[in-house]
Formats: sequence, C-alpha cells, structure tokens
Amino acid sequence: MPESKSQQCPAPELAVVVPTYNEADNVAEIVRRVAAALDGIDWELIFVDDDSADQTWRLARDIAAKDRRVRVLQRVGRRGLSSACIEGMLATAAPYIAVIDGDLQHDETRLPLMLSTLKGENLDIVVGSRYVAGGGVGDWDARRQSMSRFAGALGRLLIKVDLQDPMSGFFMLKAGLLQSCVRGLSGVGYKILLDIFASCPQPPSFKEVPYEFRLRTAGASKLDKAVLWEYLLMVMQKFLGPWIPIRFIAFSLIGGLGVFVHLAVLWALHREGGASFLVGQSAATLVAMTSNFFLNNILTYRDMRLRGRDLLWGWVSFVLACSVGALANVGIATYLYQADSSWVLSAVAGILVGAVWNYAVTAVYTWRKPKPG
Ligand code: GDD
Ligand code: MN
Repeated sequence: MPESKSQQCPAPELAVVVPTYNEADNVAEIVRRVAAALDGIDWELIFVDDDSADQTWRLARDIAAKDRRVRVLQRVGRRGLSSACIEGMLATAAPYIAVIDGDLQHDETRLPLMLSTLKGENLDIVVGSRYVAGGGVGDWDARRQSMSRFAGALGRLLIKVDLQDPMSGFFMLKAGLLQSCVRGLSGVGYKILLDIFASCPQPPSFKEVPYEFRLRTAGASKLDKAVLWEYLLMVMQKFLGPWIPIRFIAFSLIGGLGVFVHLAVLWALHREGGASFLVGQSAATLVAMTSNFFLNNILTYRDMRLRGRDLLWGWVSFVLACSVGALANVGIATYLYQADSSWVLSAVAGILVGAVWNYAVTAVYTWRKPKPG
C-alpha cells in the first residue's frame, strides 16, 4: 500500500563517501568493514567511481542492489579524486559526511569516534590524522614520508591553521561546512581537505583524531610523482593570484629549465665538441624545444597528453610556434634595446612576450583536444 506520509524514511545521520578508481578487489570489503564499524549508527555509503576499467562501479552497484544503504555515483569521462569527493558529498542529505579511501588504507573503526567528537564538541570538521600522537604512516619508505611531510608543511603555509595532516583524505564534516565553501573549492587534484580549509569564509573549528595509515593489500595507488608537481603548482597559484593560469605557471617553469638545457647542449657542442657557434646554437635550440615539448606534454598537459601519431604532430606544431615566439622575443628585445632601454629590461620584455606567445599558441594548436580518462 502506498504510504502517504512523506517522512516515513528520513535520510541517514551519516554519509560515508568512498572515492574509487580501479578498486574492484576492495569494494566488498570496505562495505563490510564500514557496516561493522558503524553498527548502531544510521548511515549510508556512497561510492564515487570514475567509470573504472576494472568495473568497480558494477561490483559496487551489485552490492547496492541488495543493500539500499549503499549507493553508486558513476562518473563517465571524468577523473579526479577531489572532484569525486565533492560530488559524493553533495549527493547526500545526511547532516554528517565522512570521506574515506576505498582501498582500506584508512581506519574505518575511527568513524564512530569521529562522529561523536564532531557532535559532542560541536565542531565543523574532524580530521583523521597520521601526524598526531597515536597516528602513523605504517611502513612508508623514507622518500614517501619526507614527500608527505614536505607537502604538509607547504599546505600549512597556505592555510595558516595548525593542522598536522592537511593532506589527509580521511575526515568527517558537517554538511553546513561543505555548503559554506563548496563554491570556492578548486576541485583539482588530490588535496580536497586543504581545499576545504583554504576556501572557508571563516576558519572551521576542527580536531584531529589519530589513525594508523595501513598498507595497501589489493589494487595499486593512483598517486604518482606528478601529484607533488600538481600540488606545487597549486601552491604557486595561491601566491601568484587567480588571474595567472596554472598551466602558464607550469609552462614558464619548464621554459626556464629549457634555458639550462640549451646552455648545456651549446657548451657540449661548441665549447667542448668544437662545433661552430651557429651549429651549436641551432642544435641547442632544437634540443631545448624538444625537451620542453615533452615536459609540457607530461606535466603541463597531463590531462590531455598526446600519444602516438599525435605526439609527432604536436612536436612539429610546438617547434613551429616556439620558433615564431623566439623571433618575436628577439625582435622586441632588440627594438627596446635600440630605443635606449637597459639590456636587462629589454631581454626580460622579449622573454615575456615570447613566453606568452608560445603558451597561447601551443595551448590552441598543440594541445587542443581535451581527452577524458
Ligand atoms: N573517483 C576517483 N577518481 N577516485 C580516485 C581517483 C580518481 O581519479 N584517484 C584515486 N582515487 C581513489 C582510489 O581508488 C582510492 O580509493 C583513494 O582515491 C586514494 O587513492 P590512492 O591512489 O590509494 O592514494 P594514496 O593511498 O596514494 O594517497 C593517500 O594519501 C594522500 C595524501 O598523502 C590517500 O589517503 C589520499 O586520500 C591522500 O590525499
Ligand atoms: Mn591508497
């Protein structure tokens, strides 16, 4: 018989958002563990899966078909941990929302404590922390540990809040906090927690709850070295201001590196190898352009990286564009110099015009087709 009262089944108290990308071997276990941990609490679990090739979304939906506490948000043609967390958090009416990795590395048994702390102390957010007493990073190697600490220190610079683990992907917040900052979130990359803290109109009240980061037993990490680079760019962006595109910052950094590549090749060929200056300079230009092209392809345009045949055409268009840029650079610098500017000022103006030209033209002609996935 249809029920006429609309409030027969209110939203659960706690939503647990689980971002997944190729976690087929972990989905059943995370549901089982979260259910066990949250016994006695009214909860729902939302998988946000970016259309994983291993069909994580299918397994998750099979579970959801038998258990209405489990839901699936399958995003097609999109990628990104931060944006997945944001959309998952927005897909619930629960007043308290947690985010936890889907690979069993976070400690789900901490969830009840996080909830009682959030409610009992009337906080905006509770953060699962590896860097407060009682927490830890398990068997991470020294490199990963120092990388994580370095990123954390940078993050604290940004948000000016005494948060020990700003890179944590394990936290629980009040829905109201999310609503107050959601329009300011960048949604790019991995650092969703930092994003939330940096985008709040007022500093949120928070507490850190320790947990031990576990080893991954199934599947592989999606956090690669490029994540640190992405993160550095994000920090620079915060300092340089929103009107400079993040890709231009990356492009310019790589361009700066290209100068060193150029000088090294010129030195090797001309000074050491006995080639004429013209030959050395030409070869150095080509090598620097080529290395800049590949670095930009991997770092600046990661999300629309060219491969195979596209790579060749990309390189050709890049070299053509940068050759024109170099001419513009030299032309403008010479003009300014002859008009009596200082040599430094002339050179910098030339470089700036060349860089903006190279960036603008290659953004349109070299990396033009956004490719999802
Ligand atoms: N939907 C979606 N889309 N999920 C993703 C994506 C994505 O593009 N990339 C990763 N995930 C999911 C993974 O499937 C996993 O459940 C979780 O996000 C964390 O990804 P990992 O690849 O396992 O990251 P990690 O263990 O190396 O990184 C850990 O440390 C970071 C900071 O040090 C995580 O705890 C992160 O949350 C944390 O920010
Ligand atoms: Mn992980």
